[in-house]
Amino acid sequence: MAGRLLYLASAAFAQYTAAVTLDSLTTHHVDPNSVSVSGFSSGGFMAAQLGVAYSELFKAGFGVFAGGPYDCGRDQDFTTCLFNGTPSIEKPLVNMRSWSGHQIDCLCNLKQRKIYIQAGTADDVVGLGITTLLEDQLSHFALPSNVRFVTSDGAAHAMPTDVDGQGNSPCDESTLPYIANCGYDGAGEVLKWFYGERLKPRGQGPLSGDIFSFPQIGMLGAPGLAETAFVYVPKKCQHGRRAVCRLHVALHGCGMHFEQIGDKFLVNTGYNLWADTNEMIVLYPQTTVDNGTYPTWSGNLSNSNACFDWIGQYGESDWKIGDHMRAIVNMVKTIIGRHSKPGSSIRHSTLPFDEEL
Ligand SMILES: *[C@@H]1O[C@H](CO)[C@@H](O)[C@H](O)[C@H]1NC(C)=O
Ligand SMILES: *[C@@H]1O[C@H](CO)[C@@H](O)[C@H](O)[C@H]1NC(C)=O
Repeated sequence: MAGRLLYLASAAFAQYTAAVTLDSLTTHHVDPNSVSVSGFSSGGFMAAQLGVAYSELFKAGFGVFAGGPYDCGRDQDFTTCLFNGTPSIEKPLVNMRSWSGHQIDCLCNLKQRKIYIQAGTADDVVGLGITTLLEDQLSHFALPSNVRFVTSDGAAHAMPTDVDGQGNSPCDESTLPYIANCGYDGAGEVLKWFYGERLKPRGQGPLSGDIFSFPQIGMLGAPGLAETAFVYVPKKCQHGRRAVCRLHVALHGCGMHFEQIGDKFLVNTGYNLWADTNEMIVLYPQTTVDNGTYPTWSGNLSNSNACFDWIGQYGESDWKIGDHMRAIVNMVKTIIGRHSKPGSSIRHSTLPFDEEL
């Protein structure tokens, strides 16, 4: 079919570490109203940025595991937004209101968005007080009934799950790979918050589909992003099938990129098991170590820990034009087939629900 790239290998491919490689990211039948994002730590800060700045695109909502307020690092040193700091959200709130409908999408959209926030009570990297300030900030724009704030007793800085994944960290220690069995299915809970009772129970594995790798280059790339990223596509959502699928973006934290921890974020978090039974595609953008020095809002810094950018390192990080946000959004638009960039080989979907952005 014109504009749709064929998969290069069969669905029988099961090894994550040898993910099937795509020549480029592929368009799928996706309901544009189903797009959501969640992330952990710097990926959590990024999920909040995407949910706020691109609220027209992330219509199903956004989830933040151990992340802080939007625009936290611009007018105060970013380290104030970490550890047990007490950042101010006054200037960020003023900024949000002045940018609404310009540098960022209209804040009015947030009234309709589902928002999920999770924090560990023993997290000393992004403390409970900081996640609470994110909730305070968003409460100015969101409906209280649409916001869910969850605390995990005794949990340190870790993406919480309810299974023992290979190589996981202990729940009460803030250490790589920052994924831990805390007796709480974070991926499942955030997805249930977005999609509600319509979700079927998670799969038990093995997965029906494949984790595909694709080049995170050109309009899908940016400094600080790796050359390769991943997407899980359940069998029912693969090329030629009729299912209309959902799309979720899952963002890892600093040091949790594929080059550092391998497939642990792709596998141990459990997103794919939920995706498998619920016709959901999961996009996993990837960072990389960038030892170059860049001016940020907090002075000249490198990105030696491979973080998603919320400190003004790669352009205006929390505006729509921020390098990392723009690349991730281009991936989303490519998957849903509504990329309008001139010269793109991706054609628009012809499904009846599709309309131009
Ligand atoms: C970045 O710097 C660290 C520490 O000097 C070094 O170990 C690493 O290899 C460098 N990585 C890259 C990609 O340049
Ligand atoms: C940051 O780096 C630039 C050059 O890249 C330099 O001109 C500037 O003085 C540096 N700023 C600080 C605060 O070190």
